[in-house]
Parts: sequence; structure tokens; C-alpha cells
Amino acid sequence: MLHHINIRNFRNLEHFETDFNQGITALIGKNGSGKSSLIEAIYFLSVGRSFRATHDRDTINKKIIGTGDFTSIKANVSINQNLNEIQMILDLNNSNRLKKNCSYNGATLPLSKLIGNLKSVCFSVNDMNIIYGSPSIRRKYINILNLQLDNQYVSELLVYSKIVESRNSLLKQIKNNFSSKVELEYWNNKMVESGTYLIISRYKTINQLSALAKTIYPKLFNNYHNGDIRYLCNLDPLNEFIMQNDKDQIYNNFHSKLKQSELRDISLGKTTIGPHRDDLIINIDNNTAENFASRGQARLLVLGMKLAECELIKKLNYIEPIILLDDAFSELDLDNQEYLYKFIFDYNQCLITGLDFRVLENLNFSYNSLNLDQRELNING
Ligand SMILES: Nc1ncnc2c1ncn2[C@@H]1O[C@H](COP(=O)(O)OP(=O)(O)OP(=O)(O)O)[C@@H](O)[C@H]1O
Ligand SMILES: [Mg+2]
Repeated sequence: MLHHINIRNFRNLEHFETDFNQGITALIGKNGSGKSSLIEAIYFLSVGRSFRATHDRDTINKKIIGTGDFTSIKANVSINQNLNEIQMILDLNNSNRLKKNCSYNGATLPLSKLIGNLKSVCFSVNDMNIIYGSPSIRRKYINILNLQLDNQYVSELLVYSKIVESRNSLLKQIKNNFSSKVELEYWNNKMVESGTYLIISRYKTINQLSALAKTIYPKLFNNYHNGDIRYLCNLDPLNEFIMQNDKDQIYNNFHSKLKQSELRDISLGKTTIGPHRDDLIINIDNNTAENFASRGQARLLVLGMKLAECELIKKLNYIEPIILLDDAFSELDLDNQEYLYKFIFDYNQCLITGLDFRVLENLNFSYNSLNLDQRELNING
């Protein structure tokens, strides 16, 4: 649970500090007052990136750029009853690359170890990109979910990305006759080792997510439609090998496919096989959601995934994530708004923007409100 936050120079929040209570907190304030930015800052601390910025550096307050000043997000959170302080300092350092310096109770920690400590699930209008965007957006989705479930995942992902980068530069060298093809074997082996870990972890997560989403979709779609989420493994699209959960089989399959693709990879100068090309299949009534779902249905499909995420994080970590809803209620019909309120009401903590108070008051739910124009926490209801 999040108890307190102190933000400096994040978007328009130059000096912002507040306590948080348990339960639902409605963020209110004029357009542009910083409601979404507050949600974004909390999410940043949780997973190490923004949910809406094209580049993370866009979140740095414009006024401090070039001044030597930095951005900081610091929070007191309780994790398993212990109160901890986590902090992220974002420093542009007069370059274009944003440095993220992290600490946990005052001790420096690599970013890969800090993220995932504060568990969160965020749902915003941008999440429609999970349906309509490129596979890389869906991979990001899987990665962010997985890093909150598997604390080895980020390190493996970093290792794997570096291996792909090295293999790609070797492929270019071979193409230009600066290196020989036999050198590929070293990187093939490394890639298969690390990639197999990612595949197994992703398959496990998506399978569990999908099972939970299947219990949520009938409620969101009033039993009229089916939603289905599946992991599309680049190496094993029909999940023939992964399903058996046999590590050696996945490893061997990956290795032989990588070997088969060597000539093509050399001519293209990039690695065309592996989990860096994975995707998710999101279907409604057995049709691809991207082409078949209505806007509202697409929103419900993603909402179902997010609610399943909450359940999965709770189930596997025994910790409830903080639910962050940025304008999540727009485009939802009244029944679904009510379902969403009831769902979040069972959770320990939830921050919401764009709330329709009439629906909440009709349900007689108590909530806190935090006014970003006045920056004070009122307890209502
Ligand atoms: N890097 C930045 N530096 C300073 N201000 C920024 C930066 N990026 C965005 N802003 C401004 O911060 C303000 C807060 O934006 P935010 O999206 O948080 O508002 P909001 O309260 O969610 O508004 P809405 O009700 O319209 O959704 C806006 O005026 C926006 O233009
Ligand atoms: Mg907003």
C-alpha cells in the first residue's frame, strides 16, 4: 500500500507531497491540474516507465531542463507489513538519455531490482494500443506484467536483449565478410539459453492470466461474447512444445530454428527468430479483436486483462496491487461502471481519475478525494 508520496519536477508537479489512505481515492481537479501525472509518477516508481509518454524523458518538468536540477519520485510504501521508502531520481544530465537512479530505504539499488517492489496495475485510454498497436506494445505489456510476478525476469530480459544486439552486429559483420559464420554458434547457444527462460515464464503468465480473464469476460460482456487471450510464441505459434512444459524440448526447438534461419538472418543483418518477436492473440468470439471488436468491446477486452492482472498479482504474490485508473470509466456502460466499482472496492487501494461521483454515491461506497487544485486529502462517505 502507498502511504505517502513526494514528487519533484515530474511533469507539472514541481513540488508535490501528499498522504494516501486505504480504499478508493478519487483524484479531482481542473483539466491539466496533474491528475494523470500523479498516476503516471506512481506507475513510474512501480515499473520504471511511463504508461503514456513516447519517451520517458517527456515526463521531466520542462522548466528544469538544462538547469542541472533533477526529477524525483519518493514514496513510503508498506510491503508485507513493513514500511519502506523507495525513490527514483530521473536525471537528464544535459543529454537525451534519461538516467534512472534508484534507492530502497536509502541504499542504492539497480533499476532492475527496484521495479516490481511496488505492485500496480494501471488502466488508461492508452491501453487501447494493446489491441490496435504493434506487437512490441503487447510484448511490453507481457514484460511489465511478468516483472511484477517473477523477480528474475527483468535481469533475464536485459541479458537476452544484449545477446540479440551482439548477434545482430555479428550478422552484419559476417555479411560484410569481416567475421565467419562459425562464430554464430556462441551467440546461438547464449540466446537459446536465456530465451528459453523468457518463453517459459511468458507462457506460464499468459496462461494464468487468460484463465482468470475467462471468469471476468462473461460479466463484462453479459454472457453474450467470449474474450480469449493467448500467448503467440514466435518459435512455437501453436504452443506444441511449450504446452508440455519441457525445457529441453523448447531449448532444442529454439536452437534448430535459429540454426535454420542463419542464412536469412545474415542477409537481413538481424535475428528473425526468438522471443523478441513474440506477440499476444486477443480474440473476441474467435475473431481478432483488432479487426472485429467495437471500440467499447476492445476497451472491455483490455479492461478484462487488467482486472485479471490484479487477480493474478494478488494470487501469486499474496500482495494486492495498487489499482491506478486514469479515465478508465469513459466509454463504459452503466452496468460495467458498476462492475468495475465493485471489483476495485474489494482491493486495498485504488486511485481514480475521471470518476462519475453519481454512480459511486448510488452504490453507497465510501471514498477519499484528493483535489489537485488544492492538494489536500478529504475523507468522504
Ligand atoms: N514535461 C512537462 N513539464 C511541465 N508540464 C508538463 C509536462 N508534460 C505535460 N505537462 C503539463 O502538465 C499538466 C498536467 O497534465 P495532466 O495530464 O496530468 O493533467 P490532468 O489533470 O490529468 O488533466 P485532464 O483532466 O485533462 O486529464 C498539463 O498542463 C500538461 O500540459
Ligand atoms: Mg488526465
